[in-house]
Amino acid sequence: MAKRIKIKDLLNSTDFGQEATVMGWVKTFRNKQFIAINDGSTIKNIQAVVDFNSFDDSLLKRLTTGAAVSLTGEIVESLGKGQRIEIKVNTLEILGDSDAEKFPLQPKKHSLEFLREIAHLRFRTNTFNAVFKVRHALAYAVHKFFNDKGFLYLHTPIITASDAEGAGEMFRVSTIDPDHIPRNEDGTVNYKEDFFGKATNLTVSGQLEGELAAMAFGDIYTFGPTFRAENSNTTRHLAEFWMIEPEMAFYDLNDNMDLAEELLKYLISYALEHCADELEFLNSRLLEEEKQKPQADRSELDLLSKLKFCLENNFERITYTEAIQILRNSKPNQKKQFKYLIDSWGADLQSEHERFLVEKHFKKPVILIDYPADIKSFYMRLNEPDTEGRKTVRAMDILFPGIGEIIGGSQREERLDKLEKRMEEMHIPAEEMSWYLDTRRFGTAPHAGFGLGFERLVLFVTGMTNIRDVIPFPRTPKNAEF
Ligand code: 4AD
Ligand code: MG
Repeated sequence: MAKRIKIKDLLNSTDFGQEATVMGWVKTFRNKQFIAINDGSTIKNIQAVVDFNSFDDSLLKRLTTGAAVSLTGEIVESLGKGQRIEIKVNTLEILGDSDAEKFPLQPKKHSLEFLREIAHLRFRTNTFNAVFKVRHALAYAVHKFFNDKGFLYLHTPIITASDAEGAGEMFRVSTIDPDHIPRNEDGTVNYKEDFFGKATNLTVSGQLEGELAAMAFGDIYTFGPTFRAENSNTTRHLAEFWMIEPEMAFYDLNDNMDLAEELLKYLISYALEHCADELEFLNSRLLEEEKQKPQADRSELDLLSKLKFCLENNFERITYTEAIQILRNSKPNQKKQFKYLIDSWGADLQSEHERFLVEKHFKKPVILIDYPADIKSFYMRLNEPDTEGRKTVRAMDILFPGIGEIIGGSQREERLDKLEKRMEEMHIPAEEMSWYLDTRRFGTAPHAGFGLGFERLVLFVTGMTNIRDVIPFPRTPKNAEF
């Protein structure tokens, strides 16, 4: 094909009088004269000007929204408002027509719900151009952050035989024919006949394998897809999501919190610096959306201010026990406005409680630590019982405004006897996890790590409100379209 210049580069060019070729998709065609073209390289369009006397009417008729075009022309200074540069078209070729009657994206505002149903085409809208540019930049920044710190990127398996979180929310992986299930004498499924010779599932977390590598490389991280068969139809849950899981030898919980806070601030500032156009667009988009809401429901800060606010403030660090005190005495608890009232120590926090702490009480990100052992995973390090004899673990959850939990992590239980005891109590099959326990048998060391839900991060940075709108093809209960 002819050599094309990307619109992003063209818009920065000063080669006035020179000829350039642009390829992209028509956004609009106005007055038989002005074509707005986008090629995805930037959220901005280039304006191409055609002299309708020099082109066949039948050709111009095909310049409909969505059509793919290639055009060559002279780079000129624009007289129009809002752009510095435009292209005066000499030759024009339609690469692919787009039937204006049938193309679902029209140059008007479409609802996000509608766009979700046509996720195969929504990339071509300004909103999704911006969202996925930010997503890309954040993914790159994750690797840059860890690489610059000397962390090793570890690829953990997608198919595994263990349930890393011990929560039983797994998608089975099997080649057994459902119409001919091999059975043991007692009627249970005989997985020896299955592909791997045992029951396997899609991974819920790469952490356990990450711990093995941290015990050799010191600092590692994973960044890959994870799968949870939890039936949560919320704006914060996906059945398939991407998670970043660093794991560090010789780290305690304080080191872990410091790293997590540094990472989040780095990622936010990276986006502010490298996605200025996209965030500007998303900021205005959100302001428009907020105008539809009653005054009381509008956020106090716009998107850009909210992101900067997170950079400029230290995250509040408190224990679960302190959080329970605050929640118990809070107005929504006393007035019975919470759906789940907090009356005793030990209750699991719901997102309404997390959001109260972050959005109403502290008004900034909060790190909650030292949760009751009963509501957390088996691998977390047990604290000494408190003065009232209550058992807590060295867990940390980072809570963000509008999001709730964005990071979950802990210092790990490195003491073999304590870990074995906890696994037994929680019915985790120790015999099958001998490989995991080996790290505690041979050169065990204090270590810690956490998991950052990538889509929750993208949700926060883009100011979008539904997690289905920050992953290209969302997987949720009863939906695996595209
Ligand atoms: O708190 P979680 O379950 O922690 C773990 O998986 C640990 N193994 C992490 C570790 O210590 N290495 O999940 C971590 C994060 C959550 O804080 C949340 O951001 C995200 O993953 N997450 C989800 N994101 C989207 N959809 C879901 N269903 C999610 N479940 C968890
Ligand atoms: Mg969690």
